[in-house]
Amino acid sequence: MTRAQPTGTAHLRAMPLPSLAKFRGRDWVTDQDYSRDELLELIHLAVVLKDLWARKRVTAFLPGRHLGMIFEDPSTRTRVSFETGMTELGGHAVYLRPGEMHLPARESIADTARVLSRFFDAIEARTHKVSALRELAAFATVPVINGEAGDYDHPIQSVTDALTILEYGGRIEGETMAFIGNGDCMCNSVVMTFTRLGMNVNCAVPPHFPLRDEIRAIAEENCSRWGTRLLVTEDPVEAVADADYVYTSLWWWEDPPEYVAEIRRKNRALQVNEELWERTKPGARFMHCLPAVRGDEVTDGIIDGPMSMVWDMAENRKHFQKAVVLALVGIEELPSDPDLQPIGRALLS
Ligand code: CP
Repeated sequence: MTRAQPTGTAHLRAMPLPSLAKFRGRDWVTDQDYSRDELLELIHLAVVLKDLWARKRVTAFLPGRHLGMIFEDPSTRTRVSFETGMTELGGHAVYLRPGEMHLPARESIADTARVLSRFFDAIEARTHKVSALRELAAFATVPVINGEAGDYDHPIQSVTDALTILEYGGRIEGETMAFIGNGDCMCNSVVMTFTRLGMNVNCAVPPHFPLRDEIRAIAEENCSRWGTRLLVTEDPVEAVADADYVYTSLWWWEDPPEYVAEIRRKNRALQVNEELWERTKPGARFMHCLPAVRGDEVTDGIIDGPMSMVWDMAENRKHFQKAVVLALVGIEELPSDPDLQPIGRALLS
């Protein structure tokens, strides 16, 4: 049985794909290296791949190709979506954890990058520091894809979220996003990605975890380009008042119990709950990158409510990441399956 596809992306399914050969060989260390049009072109490819998947078509564009996946931090969605996505593309993925490989004790990032480039056609990496990701990309000779840089950004998540917004609302540009939570890597990506894609962003962050000046500067440059607005406040009610989408993320990660108790106390007013939801616009949607700690940053009534998009956001990770891996790795020849040829022609042109 095929699955009905979202009406919000019907226009993209009906349109021919743009030329995609320009993506081949590039890194995805930050989405800010990609223009707004390029991000939308990758979303378009994801929509077409998702449609093929929904119609149960085999999309083996990358037989004999390999994706390395380095995870310094745990993951459910990122690991599973890259691995299943690579399998659906006809390729193979290898999960690598520091401690189970020589990185970082006996082998440098640079040497690891040189060696892995001899085996893999692309390398996905989740690192604690963005500096490690940038170093990996500098020494790898195959595309490096950011699977989250803990101290900086999570762009594969936030651009996937733009696909989900398009599915629900049919448009991205001109919409308003509210982010409620710490000024952490997810906040940074929401602010940078959505301002780049032409949305207004309202960011409610606490004084003990503010939005970083460098992120604000990037977002303000994006806003001046598109005539949109970045609002930074400590007041979640102000942030959600005119928002079409309300986004939150984890307050703590692998932190000691004392930190968790303190951040729960300090962030109490930032919880996305029924009381805050009464202050949102009618029809506003709830977003969370997951995992969620129910009762901390969000209540059950919101994450499980009709306003929640979170399970579609999780599923779309696979569809968007397949688009990124396929566009960055590229293909050598037109597939023989006529259903795959529109994508094949776009990748080769
Ligand atoms: N949202 C996200 O990246 O989830 P994981 O940490 O499970 O990969």
